[in-house]
Order: sequence, then C-alpha cells, then structure tokens
Amino acid sequence: MKIRYFLILIFLLSFSSLWAQLNVDMKSEPAKMEDNKRCFDCHSTHIYTFDNPVSGITERKEMNPNFVFNTDAFYSGVHRHFSCTDCHSPDYETFPHNAELRFEPMYSCIDCHGGDEAFASYHFETIEEEFGKSVHASKHNENFNCWMCHNPHSYKAMTRSDFKISEIVSAHNQMCASCHDNPLHFQRISDSTKKPLEEIHKFLPNFKLHFSAVRCIECHTAVEDTMWVAHNILPKEMAVKKCVECHSSSTMLISSLYKYQTIETRKNRGTFNSMLLNETYVIGANRNIYLNIFSIILFGLSLLGVAVHVFFRIKKK
Ligand code: HEC
Ligand code: HEC
Ligand code: HEC
Ligand code: HEC
Ligand code: HEC
Ligand code: HEC
Ligand code: HEC
Repeated sequence: MKIRYFLILIFLLSFSSLWAQLNVDMKSEPAKMEDNKRCFDCHSTHIYTFDNPVSGITERKEMNPNFVFNTDAFYSGVHRHFSCTDCHSPDYETFPHNAELRFEPMYSCIDCHGGDEAFASYHFETIEEEFGKSVHASKHNENFNCWMCHNPHSYKAMTRSDFKISEIVSAHNQMCASCHDNPLHFQRISDSTKKPLEEIHKFLPNFKLHFSAVRCIECHTAVEDTMWVAHNILPKEMAVKKCVECHSSSTMLISSLYKYQTIETRKNRGTFNSMLLNETYVIGANRNIYLNIFSIILFGLSLLGVAVHVFFRIKKK
C-alpha cells in the first residue's frame, strides 16, 4: 500500500514541473525589433541626438537616466515580442513628444491578462485580490500598482525558467530593495522615511547571508500553497521572526522558495531532498538525510529478499 502512495507522490512531483513553465517563445528573434529600434535609438543611450530643424544643427543631449533601458533586458523579458507602441501611444513616434502624452493612462496587467484562458494557470485575478489585501495596496492609493515591482521593460518570469534558486533570491530581493533601500525611489510612493533594511533586521545573526539565501517574501507573506508566488505582503507585526520556521526539518521554505528548483532538476530528480542537497543547505532542514538513505537501502534489501524468496518458490514447483 505504501508503495502506491509513494508512486503517486513521485507522479505528482514530476507533474508539477509541467504546469509551471513559460509559454512565451524565448528562442526566436523578438518580433518587433525593427519597430523598437526607433525608440531604442534614444531610449537605450545616455546621450541622444536629434536634428534641430530651427537651428539646423544636430544636437546632443543627456537623457533622463530613468528613461534609459537596457535592450538585452527588454528582449529577455516576458513581453519581448512587444512593440513599445503596443503599450505606449503611437504618437511617441514623433519627437519632441507631445507634452500631453504624459497624461496617457497606462494599461494594468489585468487589462490584457484578465479573463484570458491562455493565462489561466497564472491566476491573475487571485493575484490581484491578494495584492489588494497587501500593505502596499491598503496603505497607498493607485500610485502603488503592479508595475512598481514588475518592471514593464524587463520583467522576467524567473520562477518558470531555468534559474538557480540563488539567482531568483537575489533578483526578487532586488525588486524590494530597489525601493526600500533607495530613498529616491521610495519617495515616489511615500514621504515617510525608513531605517535601512540592515538595521530593521538586526535580529538575524548574519543579515547578508540570510538575504542572499532567502527572499523578503518568505518572511513577509503568509505561506500559501495555492499561489505560485505569494503577493499578500502582511503588516510588519505578522512577519516571520521565529528561527525554527526555517531551521527545522519541516522548513517552510519547502512550500515557498524551494519549489522553484530549476526545471532541469525537477525533471531529473523530482525530489525536494535533491534540492536541499545540491544548492542550498539550511541548518536543521536536512539533518536526517543519512537516515533517509539508510531507509532506502533497507527498503531495497527487503525488496531483494522478496524477489529471492519468490524465485525459489517458483523454482521449487
Ligand atoms: C530623438 C530621441 C527620442 C526618440 C526617437 C524617442 N524618444 Fe521618447 N523621449 C525622449 C526624451 C528626450 C524624453 C524625455 C521627456 C521629453 O522630452 O518628452 C522622452 C520621453 C519618453 C517617455 C516618457 C514621457 C514622460 O515624461 O512620462 C515615453 C513613454 C517615451 N519617450 C516613449 C517613446 C517611444 C515609445 C518611442 C518610440 C516610438 C520614443 N519614445 C522615441 C527622446 C526620444
Ligand atoms: C508591456 C507594456 C510596455 C511596453 C512593451 C513598453 N512600456 Fe514603457 N512603460 C510601460 C508602463 C506601464 C510605464 C509606467 C511605469 C511606471 O509608472 O513606473 C512605462 C514607462 C515608460 C517610460 C517612462 C519611464 C518612467 O520612469 O516614468 C518610458 C521612457 C518608456 N516607458 C519607454 C518605452 C520604450 C522605449 C519601450 C520599447 C522599447 C517601452 N516603453 C515598452 C509599459 C510598457
Ligand atoms: C498590453 C497588454 C499587456 C499588458 C499590459 C501586460 N501583459 Fe503580460 N503578456 C501580454 C501578452 C499578449 C503576452 C503573450 C506574449 C507572447 O506570447 O509573446 C504576455 C505574456 C506574459 C507572461 C508570460 C505568460 C506565458 O506563459 O506565456 C507573463 C508572466 C505576463 N505577461 C505577466 C504580466 C504582468 C505581471 C503584467 C503587469 C505587470 C503584464 N503581463 C502586463 C500582454 C500584456
Ligand atoms: C511587491 C512586489 C510585487 C507587486 C506589487 C506585484 N508583484 Fe507580481 N510578482 C512579484 C514577484 C517577485 C514575482 C515572481 C517573478 C518571477 O517569476 O521571477 C511575481 C510574479 C507574478 C506573476 C507570475 C506568477 C507565476 O505563476 O509565475 C504574475 C502573473 C504576477 N506577479 C502578477 C501581478 C499582478 C497582476 C500584480 C498587481 C495586481 C502584481 N503582480 C504585483 C512581485 C510583485
Ligand atoms: C527572516 C525573515 C525576514 C526576512 C528574510 C526579511 N524580513 Fe523584513 N522584517 C522581518 C520582521 C520579523 C520584521 C519586524 C521587525 C520588528 O518589528 O522589529 C520585519 C520588518 C520589515 C519592515 C518594516 C520596517 C518598519 O519598521 O516599518 C520592512 C519594510 C521590511 N521588513 C522589508 C523587508 C525587505 C525589503 C526584505 C528583503 C530584502 C525583508 N524585509 C526580509 C522579517 C524578515
Ligand atoms: C516602489 C516601492 C516599493 C516596492 C518595490 C516595495 N515596497 Fe514595501 N513598502 C513601500 C512603501 C511606500 C511602504 C509603506 C510605508 C509606510 O507608509 O509606512 C511599504 C511597506 C512595506 C512593509 C511594512 C508594512 C508595515 O506594516 O509597516 C513591508 C514589510 C514591505 N513593504 C515589504 C516589501 C517587500 C517584501 C517588497 C518586495 C516583494 C516590497 N515591500 C516592495 C514601498 C515599496
Ligand atoms: C526565512 C527562513 C529563515 C529564517 C526565519 C531564519 N533563517 Fe537562518 N538561515 C536560513 C537559510 C536559508 C540559511 C542558509 C544560508 C547558507 O548557509 O547558505 C540560514 C543560515 C543561518 C545561519 C548560518 C550562518 C553562517 O554564518 O553560516 C545561522 C547561524 C542562522 N541562519 C541563524 C538564524 C537565527 C538565529 C534565526 C532567527 C532569529 C534565523 N536564522 C532565521 C533561513 C532562515
């Protein structure tokens, strides 16, 4: 009977690797490269040039650094086949840009993804609900929207691609830190000033090491199995502070961070222990690994025993 459950578990684990993959074609050439070149001519460089028809000279000007985008990052994101003018007004094709364009309303994720079967596995509606409950949405107005974390010009779905856990951790933490540890960016949203993250999290023995091994959302969201990426950032009073939540054999990281082990690893082995062994090591989380190996050997030996037994029974007849 136990074997049956074991097989079902293996089946479920290997199946879970199928539902979390990206559909976007990441291999072929981006569809709108030619179109976008017109925009990138100015928006990928710190100095842009234009012909001034009044003075008749070619002027060189410095671009606002927030308006400069990395082309490689754009073309490795999920919206890599987009033209800039799929999201922005086509009127941007003229320069100088019409000042009123500044008032153009921007699309939200749901405008395009809501109710679309093709993206059902992402649960956009649930994510929006969860985000609505989070401190960012409840403490602030529409100024805090999905784009605050999902950079429109580079967002990658890392947890559905072949990234190492360590790469996912640093990219996701950078998303939060780029605002929480950057007063300029932070003040786009709030006048309040916050202490540096390092000071806030003094209670952790090795702050740097922890922040390179776990994500902010591990401690700042409720663990939720149904969500692939948790979006409900809880008030600080509810953040995880207890060391044993992670440093124990039932580490909560299994249902959050470690489920993103690379697709390759998932395909090849499909077990969480391989994850715990090969890339990360949480003290306390995998202390009984030798016991596990021992029990597998025992299990193998008893199978062998049964086989030998059956063999001789048949032979006797
Ligand atoms: C000749 C250089 C040049 C080209 C080409 C160009 N831009 Fe711009 N763009 C600028 C400059 C300079 C600004 C800074 C604000 C301004 O001058 O309007 C800007 C600002 C913007 C803004 C921000 C407006 C705001 O203030 O919020 C957007 C959006 C934008 N451009 C989109 C585009 C798109 C899309 C294209 C291609 C269709 C494009 N730009 C082509 C130079 C250019
Ligand atoms: C998937 C939709 C999408 C695509 C594609 C897109 N943008 Fe944007 N862009 C946005 C959104 C949304 C904002 C506003 C972001 C914000 O408020 O932080 C924005 C803001 C900007 C800004 C102003 C930046 C700022 O900090 O205010 C510029 C400049 C810009 N885009 C240029 C471009 C160019 C050039 C391209 C093509 C290479 C492009 N965008 C492609 C959605 C998009
Ligand atoms: C202007 C419409 C538009 C907006 C706005 C938009 N998307 Fe998309 N998105 C698309 C389309 C269309 C695709 C499919 C692209 C393709 O297959 O090349 C896509 C693809 C994706 C994918 C990959 C899905 C897959 O497996 O193929 C993700 C993830 C995604 N978007 C997330 C977001 C998020 C998060 C936001 C908001 C921060 C957002 N999108 C905003 C239209 C949009
Ligand atoms: C506080 C930061 C933050 C905000 C705000 C945010 N997200 Fe996300 N979101 C993330 C992170 C981090 C990921 C993981 C990206 C990855 O796969 O590497 C993610 C992933 C996603 C995904 C992909 C989930 C999957 O199954 O692969 C979708 C869809 C998404 N977000 C939609 C939204 C929508 C819609 C909003 C606004 C209602 C939003 N997000 C606001 C941080 C944020
Ligand atoms: C090990 C768990 C853990 C991790 C990882 C973690 N935090 Fe925290 N965080 C906490 C706890 C617990 C508190 C509450 C501290 C207190 O009240 O003394 C907190 C407080 C905060 C606060 C509130 C500060 C204030 O006083 O208003 C912010 C903002 C914050 N964290 C952001 C982050 C960001 C951003 C990251 C990732 C770079 C992160 N945290 C990673 C556990 C964590
Ligand atoms: C664009 C800026 C921005 C980004 C990105 C951002 N935050 Fe925040 N965050 C804020 C602001 C603003 C506040 C509210 C400060 C206030 O008004 O007290 C806040 C509040 C918080 C709080 C404190 C809640 C409380 O009870 O006081 C936590 C925890 C937090 N954020 C975690 C995160 C995490 C985790 C991420 C990344 C997944 C993240 N934030 C991304 C701007 C940001
Ligand atoms: C969100 C999960 C999480 C929480 C909560 C957490 N840790 Fe950790 N901790 C980790 C991970 C993951 C590592 C492994 C880092 C590595 O060695 O690569 C680690 C590493 C450590 C280390 C090893 C540092 C070293 O120098 O090798 C110590 C000590 C530690 N944690 C103590 C604590 C204490 C004490 C607490 C409670 C105040 C705590 N941790 C809370 C996840 C967590």
